[in-house]
Amino acid sequence: MENNKKILVVFYSRTGVTRKIAQELAAGLGADIEEIHDKKNRSGAMGYITASIDAVTRKCTEIENCVKKPSEYDLVIIGTPIWGSTMCSAVRTYLKLYKENIKTAGFLITYKMFGVPNVVRNMEMILDKKPVSVIDFKSGSTTKEQLAFKIENLKKELLT
Ligand SMILES: Cc1cc2nc3c(=O)[nH]c(=O)nc-3n(C[C@H](O)[C@H](O)[C@H](O)COP(=O)(O)O)c2cc1C
Repeated sequence: MENNKKILVVFYSRTGVTRKIAQELAAGLGADIEEIHDKKNRSGAMGYITASIDAVTRKCTEIENCVKKPSEYDLVIIGTPIWGSTMCSAVRTYLKLYKENIKTAGFLITYKMFGVPNVVRNMEMILDKKPVSVIDFKSGSTTKEQLAFKIENLKKELLT
């Protein structure tokens, strides 16, 4: 970024929606990017069911080691799909592991129907801090133009 803020976009994605938005966001902000990998198989119908159960029971999951160090960034934007009205399990684990290393946080939340305010509250509670920004993306409803507008606004906010 022009003001040399170091930004990391870190995300989990089961089916690619959050990945695509995270990539666009990172490209727009000139940020580094890292994908969180859940060690539990979340594919198919069984994966969907266990994902739902783990999410609603607020269960963490084991994740692969992350390469990027959040402590080296001025801002860490954490991307999650909504699962059972809360964050996905891999992001829950990431926040618990790295909360002390995240100076300033932003949230990226993708979803199909509703639940953003609850996810924001749940993520804030684990992190023990409020995000400087929340970008939400409703699959099948938020347009490319709306997303570009949100990214531009965030860029302006971060530069001031
Ligand atoms: C287990 C599970 C639970 C979900 N629960 C919700 C929900 O409570 N509310 C909602 O709006 N979308 C829910 N969704 C839809 C996802 O949040 C949405 O499709 C998301 O954009 C998928 O992102 P991804 O492709 O990066 O995994 C759920 C999806 C899964 C797999």
